[in-house]
Order: sequence, then structure tokens, then C-alpha cells
Amino acid sequence: MNVVILAAGMGKRMQSALPKVLHPLAGKPLLSHVIDTAQGLSPGRLCVIYGHGGAAVLELLSRRPEKVAAALQEPQLGTGHAVMQALPELDETVPTLILYGDVPLTTAASLQALVDAAGSDKLAILTVEQDDPFGLGRIVRENGQIVRIVEQKDATEAERAIREINSGIMVAPTAKLKQWLATLSNNNAQGEYYLTDIVAKAVADGVAVVSAQPSAQWEVAGVNSKVQLAELERIHQGNIAHRLLEQGVTLLDPARIDVRGELVCGRDVTIDVGCVFEGKVELADGVSVGAHSVIVNARIAAGAVIKPFCHIEEAVVGAASIIGPYARLRPGTELAEDVHIGNFVEIKNSQIAAHSKANHLAYVGDATVGSRVNIGAGAITCNYDGANKFRTVIEDDAFIGSDSQLIAPVTVGAGATIGPGTTLSRNAPAGKLTVSRARQLTIENWTRPVKIKK
Ligand code: UD1
Ligand code: CA
Repeated sequence: MNVVILAAGMGKRMQSALPKVLHPLAGKPLLSHVIDTAQGLSPGRLCVIYGHGGAAVLELLSRRPEKVAAALQEPQLGTGHAVMQALPELDETVPTLILYGDVPLTTAASLQALVDAAGSDKLAILTVEQDDPFGLGRIVRENGQIVRIVEQKDATEAERAIREINSGIMVAPTAKLKQWLATLSNNNAQGEYYLTDIVAKAVADGVAVVSAQPSAQWEVAGVNSKVQLAELERIHQGNIAHRLLEQGVTLLDPARIDVRGELVCGRDVTIDVGCVFEGKVELADGVSVGAHSVIVNARIAAGAVIKPFCHIEEAVVGAASIIGPYARLRPGTELAEDVHIGNFVEIKNSQIAAHSKANHLAYVGDATVGSRVNIGAGAITCNYDGANKFRTVIEDDAFIGSDSQLIAPVTVGAGATIGPGTTLSRNAPAGKLTVSRARQLTIENWTRPVKIKK
């Protein structure tokens, strides 16, 4: 099968410099949704028709793992003209599926049903009954058989009353498609070459025209404005939430979760309201995520508790760990089991071994931290000298007193204690107390100043 994706329209109503098909839905460009779904059908050839914002569209295509052909449509003279631009890319011996780059949520199952309905020699149209069909092409039937499609602007009063609409998604026998496109005219209300005119040509040619229906209207809903984009985003997020619930995930409110990527959950996972998941996130058995947390490309092991308001990005959280509230785990954070990271603690590019704790107001960057280490409130690694980054090593059972600064590169030996307020610029030996602050002094006979009377 060939797939052609129409994506040359400019999307004026988006009111944006970004080409319409590159606007994200669930964190992914509209066009990428369509290409991903199309790839699920394993097409032999796939061609994207681009026009407005061409360079950005080509950039997106070049970042894909598979080869996607592209054809420029300039100027844009209608949907039929758009498909013509793809013809040199198509294999004439197999049918062609036509998709729209701004219709992101069609399911592979619906497309497969359409492809099956078309077989090798029929023209198949994905149609749907729409409560408000205004603006869309109407499916005209005689004795139940589709005979043509008429556009809103060309339709008679009677035709405008038809509620079965053309989604625009079709499958056509490719050799015939070429013939029909070659004979299109633009003699219509919009002066465009309408793809929809191939329907009447198929009927005249004795080619059977059939239809298939999607499971719901949203499958064929297009994005023409930010309003429609926001509506589809909610529908998509609702579908994802529904799927998670069916898998047994507890969502405190299925209307208040956003998944922009792939969220994989084990058994008995609980997610409170307002959480955002981006990229690939894995929540193992029994994980609970507190309200308003943002988790990006991360793995949270079994039984870990993420308290509210955490930001976790490219990090691994070990089993039974407790994170937050208000913790930030930056890229390269790897926490082993039963690690406690408390409020206003930031960890970056650091490994922290089992049973260690940093419960309050600390910064741990570029560090290797052993087991059962306690990092006190306000302690920080000084990992950056303004030009280069250096590592801090804190061995097992060390105790880092509050408000200490560990100036990397530096090592705190196993079981060492660093007194509070220490500025550690040399290695601290294992098992000993190291402290760098000035000795405490009490001034005898000192009196507080008193206000001078005027
Ligand atoms: C088209 C159909 C209409 C259908 C509707 C569904 C035609 C003539 N009409 O309407 O029956 O109900 O879609 O949304 O086909 N595009 C190009 N090049 C062009 C014109 C359009 O690539 O020259 C692309 C657009 O980027 C978009 C898609 O084709 O992805 C549909 O274009 P749009 O103008 O939204 O569709 P209509 O012509 O209004
Ligand atoms: Ca449209």
C-alpha cells in the first residue's frame, strides 16, 4: 500500500508562525501522529505533501527513523492537486491511502477497516454522520450507493441537509487514481482541484465506491484553530486516562492528568491530580505520584512515593524511595532503594546508594554518594568553578553537617562526619570529624549599643 499525507495547507486560523501540522497534540506534532499511525499499517511507500513552512516540515521528516518521501505543492490549488504531486512516488500496483496531516487521532483499526473495504479495486471513503456538517463535503447517495461528494460551497439546499460527511480519508486503486486526477477541473465555487471529484469519476468508470465508519467523530476531526486543537487534546487525554483506569491505575481525577508520550504503569499505581508525564515514563508496582508533579523520561521503581510538586527528569528512582514534596531530580540522577529526597532538594547527574537521605534544602550535583549517607539541611556540592565541573565522592555512612559546602573534586571517606558549616576543600578522612569553621568566641564585658538621646 501507498500512503499520501496532505500537509500543505497554511492553517491561517491557527494565528501562528508555526506550520499547522507541526503544532503539538500530547507533546507530539500533529503530522507525527498521522505518520506514526500510518506506519502501523506498514505501507510500502509514504509521501508527505508539504507547502507552507516547508523547511520545518522537512526537518521533522529528516529526524524520523524511517525514510519518508516528501513532495512540494506550490502553489496550493486544492486537495486533488495536492495528491497529484505525490504520483511519481507511488507504486501503481497497490492501492493508495490518503490521509490529512491535520487529522491526528484516526486509529489504525479504522484505517485498516477502510483498506479492507477497498480491497485492490474499489474506492473507499471514511465517512461519518455529523450533527453539524457545516463546511464539510457531503456524501451523496442514490439507492444507498455513493454517487459523488459535494462541497459545502457547491451544495444545494437539499444536499446541505445531508449529515453523512467526507472525512477526506480515502483509499483508491492507484492506476485509476492517476487517470481520474489527470481529468480533474477546477470549475467550482472555490476554483480548486477537488480530490472529492474522483468519486463521481469512479462511478462513471464502473468502479465500486464503498465506505467505512470510524468508532467516533473525533477520529476524523481536523485541527483548523487553537480551539479545535484544545478540544482534541482533551479528547485524547480523556482516552489515555480511560485506558489507564482500565489497566487498574488509580487516577484521583481522570480529567486532570496529561500524558505527553508513553506512560507505563505496574499494578496498584496511584496518580493524584494535575500530574504531567512526558516522554517515556515507567511507574512500577505500587508507586504513588502526588499532586502536580511533572515526570519526564524517568523510571520510578516499585513502592516509591513521589509526594506533591516534584519535578523529575531523566532520572531513576529506586524502590521504596520517598521523594518530595518540592524535590527536583535533574538528568542523570540515579537513586537506589529507600533513598529519601526531601523538600527543596536538587539532585543532578549523581548516583545515590541505598538508604541515604537528603531531606531539606540541599544541592547534590556530579556526585557519587554511598549507602546510609545523611546529607544535612542546606549542604551543597560546589561542582562548578565557572569553567569546569568536578565530582564529589561521599562514601558509605558519611554524615554531612548542615550548611556545608563540598568543593569538588573532593572525597568524604566512609563513616566521616563533616561538621556543620564546613567549607570542605580537601578530602575528609574516613571515620573522623572534619570541621573548617572558625572557633566559637564569646566576648566578655561586651555591651549592646544603646540609642543615643538627642
Ligand atoms: C476537504 C474535503 C471535504 C472534507 C474535508 C474534511 C476536498 C475538496 N474537500 O475540505 O470534502 O469534508 O476536507 O476536513 O477535498 N491541502 C493541501 N493542499 C491543498 C489543499 C489542502 O495539502 O491545496 C491539505 C490541507 O493541509 C489539509 C487537507 O488537505 O490537511 C484538507 O484541506 P482543507 O482545506 O482543510 O479541506 P477542505 O478543502 O475544506
Ligand atoms: Ca480542514
